[in-house]
Amino acid sequence: MKIVKSVAEMQGICRDLRTQGVSIGFVPTMGALHRGHLSLVQRARSECQTVVASIFVNPLQFAPGEDFAQYPRTFEADCRQLEAEGVAILFAPEAQEMYPSGAVTTITVSGIGDRLDGASRPGHFTGVTTVVAKLFHIVAPHRAYFGQKDAAQIAVLSQMVQDLNFDLELVSCPIVRDADGLALSSRNRYLSVSEREQALVLHRALTAIEQSIIQGERRSALLLQIGRTTLETATCIKVDYLAIVDARSLLPESSAKSGVLIAVAAYVGRTRLIDNLLVS
Ligand code: PAJ
Repeated sequence: MKIVKSVAEMQGICRDLRTQGVSIGFVPTMGALHRGHLSLVQRARSECQTVVASIFVNPLQFAPGEDFAQYPRTFEADCRQLEAEGVAILFAPEAQEMYPSGAVTTITVSGIGDRLDGASRPGHFTGVTTVVAKLFHIVAPHRAYFGQKDAAQIAVLSQMVQDLNFDLELVSCPIVRDADGLALSSRNRYLSVSEREQALVLHRALTAIEQSIIQGERRSALLLQIGRTTLETATCIKVDYLAIVDARSLLPESSAKSGVLIAVAAYVGRTRLIDNLLVS
């Protein structure tokens, strides 16, 4: 696996690959990799001739007071995992390379970018769309792979790809979970044993809502009440949001019909976790 730190070098390599007609699959990450990230790499490998991954803890998507400084950095172990999964090129720039002094341009997806996590974390999605747009320009992939775990991120990025005519396909991949249902997340490392136990309530709340939908209940107000009742069984969690929204616009839906997203975010101790399910 070739590790590239310079934007110019990465652009040169990807330009050559494109000229040779090689299809490029791209998996952007912030590192601290787990099986969720690796599932994106595996999907990319199965669909593209070359897989490019990136590791960049993007300062622009963290607000002051969030966990940018503490965010787990496990570069050596990440490299071993990416290499074992067949990643050909890893782009791992320094912050100065991505944001040289004087850079002032950002990309904001209005409306969608201010909903769910965008409402709780002002400016977060501007950070995400700006860095992902830059990465798309640097790697110029044919396909880019993202996890359904960050459903709001996918909605915001899909809108950006459409509005700004990025010539690529955005591929959404299923949530990878631990055996007990907890969605894998780099932030799970922050959890103590008892916090991890409490964190399971997020998935339990989504499952309770899913069960009610299977039994025929469609009214969002009632479903949300069922979810809240489950969330209240955990003592040390603080719910940020529990919402039933259209998966593309992220606007509230009064009925949990097919294509609707049920999303939850909560603080477990000081760790903010998210999870969701798509109604099929
Ligand atoms: P990061 O949190 O490292 O996640 C990288 C990718 O892995 C995202 O597309 C995310 O949705 C996916 N992912 C995380 N946990 C997953 C799980 N349990 N199952 C499936 N996929 C999972 O998301 C980001 O980084 C950043 O915002 C980024 C897009 C890289 C821009 O900085």
